[in-house]
Amino acid sequence: MILIKDGRLIDPSQGLDGEYDILIREGRVEKIGPRGSIGVEGCEVIEAEGLWVIPGMIDMHCHLREPGYEYKETIRTGTLAGLAGGFTALVAMANTDPVNDDASVTRYILEKAEKEGMCRVCPVGALTRGMKGENLSDIGELREAGVVALSDDGRPVARSEIMRRGLEYAKAFDLPIISHCEDPDLSKGGVMNEGRVSTLLGLKGIPSISEVIMIARDIALAGFTGGRLHIAHVSTREGVQLIREAKAKGIEVTAEVTPHHLTLTEEALKDFDTNAKVNPPLRTEEDREALIEGLKDGTIDVIATDHAPHSPVEKEVEMDLAAFGMVGLETALPLMLRLVEEGVLEPLSLFEKVTVNPARILGIEGGSLRQGSRADAVLIDPGKEWVVDPSLFHSRGRNTPFKGWKMKGKVVKTILEGKVVYG
Ligand code: DOR
Repeated sequence: MILIKDGRLIDPSQGLDGEYDILIREGRVEKIGPRGSIGVEGCEVIEAEGLWVIPGMIDMHCHLREPGYEYKETIRTGTLAGLAGGFTALVAMANTDPVNDDASVTRYILEKAEKEGMCRVCPVGALTRGMKGENLSDIGELREAGVVALSDDGRPVARSEIMRRGLEYAKAFDLPIISHCEDPDLSKGGVMNEGRVSTLLGLKGIPSISEVIMIARDIALAGFTGGRLHIAHVSTREGVQLIREAKAKGIEVTAEVTPHHLTLTEEALKDFDTNAKVNPPLRTEEDREALIEGLKDGTIDVIATDHAPHSPVEKEVEMDLAAFGMVGLETALPLMLRLVEEGVLEPLSLFEKVTVNPARILGIEGGSLRQGSRADAVLIDPGKEWVVDPSLFHSRGRNTPFKGWKMKGKVVKTILEGKVVYG
């Protein structure tokens, strides 16, 4: 038995924010009581005075790269980075090699995660075979093998007919489709947001309309089919507004935003840092503010990292040749906490975006410390200051534009099914 004592429990699933003690037994939450109300006899005591205790965070969008790109990341290193960042479940995108478009690949990932993973891994199945956007994967088999969602993330599903059928089939299996919204023609050749900064730098831009047009299409298809649509990494003001309007109409759509789109703008590319090259690109200050507004009013349900590790071979090259993506698991928490510090979000509404909301959208266990639930929890020191040093990351990826940033807030301990697995 473990007793987490004297901490500030913040659990959005129960609307709790206050001083509570938590008793854990056999991997489950046995009891929650006001500070000092649970006896300590026979317990291993974790003193959490001055710390925040939250349900283990769920990252509903990351790239673990295994199988196929183990030089960028493995299930082992990615899940360790997850634990260090406060995540106890990682939702792994399908753009591996081979692509996770087949039950055998899903089973391989789950077996590998069981053997070598440090936290839970929930695989996403590719919506289309080989992520080529031409033929649907065998959704029923993927579901049976254990995928929690379907996505060709990394690539858009260009053909509307395929997206329509995908939404219809996925609905039959009660799986959400996570859509990477980008019009490939409009984005073609672009490396950053199209606008003032891209013009100044002489780099080809990706216009906001590339995202907006696909969000509009996918919302229309979700309304038409009744399928469940989740928009990945929203980056544009107009995109947020479309999602807001769709929700008001009762269309089944949810959305996520990354910590980097909430923090940075296109200005981050001004000194040609390829680590700031991501897809969708960092946009303008106006977009960033609209994303924050979307979080505040509930238009955006989830914060997800889009953790995209790459090796120096892919990043220490010219901007045009560099791969899109940045690592995110080990910097997400302090970047999110800036929103609390700035008075934008209360801790309860911040943490619902990484706990109860992703669990609900994906239909998975976790994201709650309610009595009887899995004892996945994180202890955070919200005031701890530290400087980002990528060489200390547990992830194999070092590609972050936050190198040298002074952060506030750090994970002290991560608990997985009642066991301290980090800290
Ligand atoms: O920046 C990105 N990197 N965006 C994506 O959609 C894919 C990801 C990757 O797999 O590297």
